[in-house]
Amino acid sequence: MAANVPLLQFSPHSLQTRLHINPTKSHPFSLSSSTPFSKLNGAGGSCRGCAVIRCCSYNSNESGRGPKSVEDGVKSVEKLLEEKRQAELSTRIASGEFTVQKSGFPSVLKNSLLKMGVPKEILEFLFEKIGAGEDCPKIPKAKGSVSAMRSDAFFIPLYELYLTYGGIFRLTLGPKSFVIVSDPSIAKRILKDNSKAYSKGILAEILDFVMGKGLIPADGEIWRIRRRTIVPALHQKYVAAMIGLFGQAADRLCRKLDQAASDGEDVEMESLFSRLTLDIIGKAVFNYDFDSLKVDTGIVEAVYTVLREAEDRSVAPIPVWEIPIWKDISPRQKKVKAALKLVNDMLDDLIAICKRMVDEEELQFHEEYMNEQDPSILHFLLASGDDVSSKQLRDDLMTLLIAGHETSAAVLTWTFYLLSKEPSAMAKLQNEVDAILGDRFPTLADMKKLKYTTRVINESMRLYPQPPVLIRRSLENDMLGKYPIKRGEDIFISVWNLHHCPKHWEEADRFNPERWPLDGPNPNETNQDFSYLPFGGGPRKCVGDMFATFENIVAVSMLVRRFNFQIALGAPPVEMTTGATIHTTQGLKMTVTRRTRPPIVPTLEMPTVRSNSSLNISETNTAPDEKSEVYPSLS
Ligand code: HEM
Repeated sequence: MAANVPLLQFSPHSLQTRLHINPTKSHPFSLSSSTPFSKLNGAGGSCRGCAVIRCCSYNSNESGRGPKSVEDGVKSVEKLLEEKRQAELSTRIASGEFTVQKSGFPSVLKNSLLKMGVPKEILEFLFEKIGAGEDCPKIPKAKGSVSAMRSDAFFIPLYELYLTYGGIFRLTLGPKSFVIVSDPSIAKRILKDNSKAYSKGILAEILDFVMGKGLIPADGEIWRIRRRTIVPALHQKYVAAMIGLFGQAADRLCRKLDQAASDGEDVEMESLFSRLTLDIIGKAVFNYDFDSLKVDTGIVEAVYTVLREAEDRSVAPIPVWEIPIWKDISPRQKKVKAALKLVNDMLDDLIAICKRMVDEEELQFHEEYMNEQDPSILHFLLASGDDVSSKQLRDDLMTLLIAGHETSAAVLTWTFYLLSKEPSAMAKLQNEVDAILGDRFPTLADMKKLKYTTRVINESMRLYPQPPVLIRRSLENDMLGKYPIKRGEDIFISVWNLHHCPKHWEEADRFNPERWPLDGPNPNETNQDFSYLPFGGGPRKCVGDMFATFENIVAVSMLVRRFNFQIALGAPPVEMTTGATIHTTQGLKMTVTRRTRPPIVPTLEMPTVRSNSSLNISETNTAPDEKSEVYPSLS
């Protein structure tokens, strides 16, 4: 079915929608008339009071910041607008505009029947069926047009509506309606406290062709069993081993950037990050080396074709892929089918190879089981005796591939964008990395020490949550705050709104890694009481959170250690588009220069890395084996 919703993860290459909200265009949703629109450039994040995101940068010379007085002026206007909105909303709610009073005849009838001895439960069931339940507050309603969902990065208009209608409202788009949640306590109820009452709904329908009953779309018993099987595969020893793999992959990217720096060529970082994380996840999940940073094989193209299709289906107004004959003759659908077959065949081959390895090995399976030659999740699952159909196993592998690929790539893309706009944060980051890593590859022990690096990533995930919206469907009636909702409601939890809420976050739109104290706990949904959900929350929280955190720390630290990054002169503006994750419309074109300042490497040992080992599970320090190639400027 067509959905016009962002999915959980996709490829950045099909970029249908753009963020720019044209100030001359009328707003896609029926908002209160005085909402001003304008376009601002700046350091990322949305502009309170304007339906615009400050995510444009034109070249490295533009700081994106105006004089202080102008900034102060903008801030006080934003504050006034927000206060006005809140006051208007409170007045409207107090006036009962959103409340349906259902006293009248049904109520009288119900009371009479109760007095006659008809059981309350039966009456409630019947009266609910005919829509004549108790008096109850009604969720505030906003209306939108279907085309609006296609024409903008749709979490942005949702932010604007949130400021007008509050933490929960209903958005009606043609015949469909969605409940939009931006209130942390309601998000917590859906994701954690009453999570059993919610399924993945639309998401499962759209992803079926690619993920089947994989962990992300699966619900109910299948989800429970698969989650219980897959989570143990990401045990601590495995994640620690992956740090070596992250380092090797990041080092390959460094070599590529080094070449670009020598040639004086600008680089498009978003696609490079996408390739970096594809290489990592292929090896980590099923021990396959896509080597996409080096070569463009048919299989890499097939993976991207499939991901692109998932993204496009999520924003298509008509589900053409379901139209009988058309789905068989459309060249595009044929291409998707062929790509899917290629990827599935590859997965079947890898499963067969791995099964043979497991049959031949003598290792005893235990909790922290890991085959050093092939520490992949697939190997763990097969060795654990996971008794499952090959279709289910394939669905799970595909899910992990997609889940772990685009999210991390998007986090890296926006982190580097934010850093390019905030030179002081970049300098602080580089100082930390120089002092802690020197010339070494990062190790497990470094993950704890690279505190500012972690805060930079925490803050990047706050400003650009991946995905910006979580999707659910109610499986039974429930109370969300003071509002009753019925079974079958499609719900979007806007993580974007939670992460940008001006009431919760001081200077919500500012990239400010310092907001998280270095000696404080790592921010997560629990210690931020569901106002910060970088990895979701409750039983369906991301299974790869630790993996992804280490992956990002390794990549960021290794890259900033060696290079300076600036938005390239004449680069296209960096704008956001709708997708499962937030992508740029035209890439992130950067000029990369080698750092000339030698790092501070006082007394650290630098043993060489084992040449063919992609996985370094020991915590000893390792260094790139071809130092002169990687760090020409330092040798
Ligand atoms: C920075 C990178 C990542 C981010 C921001 C991220 C974010 C998320 C979020 C927000 C969810 C919850 C979705 C929901 O509740 O609807 C999720 C679920 C999931 N993630 Fe991640 N993720 C990342 C990396 C990874 C990696 C590397 C893997 C695998 C190795 C992974 C595997 C999964 C799976 C399987 C689920 C579904 C869990 C379930 O439904 O039980 N993710 N992720």
